[in-house]
Amino acid sequence: KKVGVLISGRGSNMSALIEASKAPDYPAEIVGVLSNKAAAPGLLTAQEHGIATASLAQSKFPSREMFEDTMTQILESWEVDYVCLAGFMRILGEDFVLRWQGRMVNIHPSLLPLYKGLDTHARVLAAGDAEHGCTVHFVTPGLDEGPTILQARVPVLPGDTPETLTARVLVEEHKLYPLALAMLARGEVSL
Ligand code: GRF
Repeated sequence: KKVGVLISGRGSNMSALIEASKAPDYPAEIVGVLSNKAAAPGLLTAQEHGIATASLAQSKFPSREMFEDTMTQILESWEVDYVCLAGFMRILGEDFVLRWQGRMVNIHPSLLPLYKGLDTHARVLAAGDAEHGCTVHFVTPGLDEGPTILQARVPVLPGDTPETLTARVLVEEHKLYPLALAMLARGEVSL
């Protein structure tokens, strides 16, 4: 199965998917990486792996719909079966979400339905929670609301800062996302 990845920055989850897909029995191949930021470091990483890339700024389009239609055209030109959001920092409109619904997943750094939105690590610390984690879920029109495919948990430890907690969760993200994409590409999970 062919997969397109949408990023806005570093792309460490994208890298984890690319590395996983090199295993001979992995059921998916990353065929293209699309960023809404031309300076996203993840674009260079993808190019180093010989993967097609594209970047397009929403501000250059007259409307969000036209921006997202262009993203769909690019993804279609790559003939992708699935779309993985990996640190893509724009909220997607309903037309785009419905176009890819059931075939588009996201990774979010919290134990959804807890802590939708931004700054999850700081909010977990402020709340005094004993555990935290990450979730791969189907993308539906409500932000961070689609059904969960997989979650991973980590403990919150004494002395944790947002940085130490972020790093602990990220280790799990990099394992979880390839597992969830493999389940999706093998047809083991569906919306
Ligand atoms: C990750 O924490 C992911 O869960 C969130 O955005 C971050 C992206 O990091 N959606 P990276 O670009 O994959 O390194």
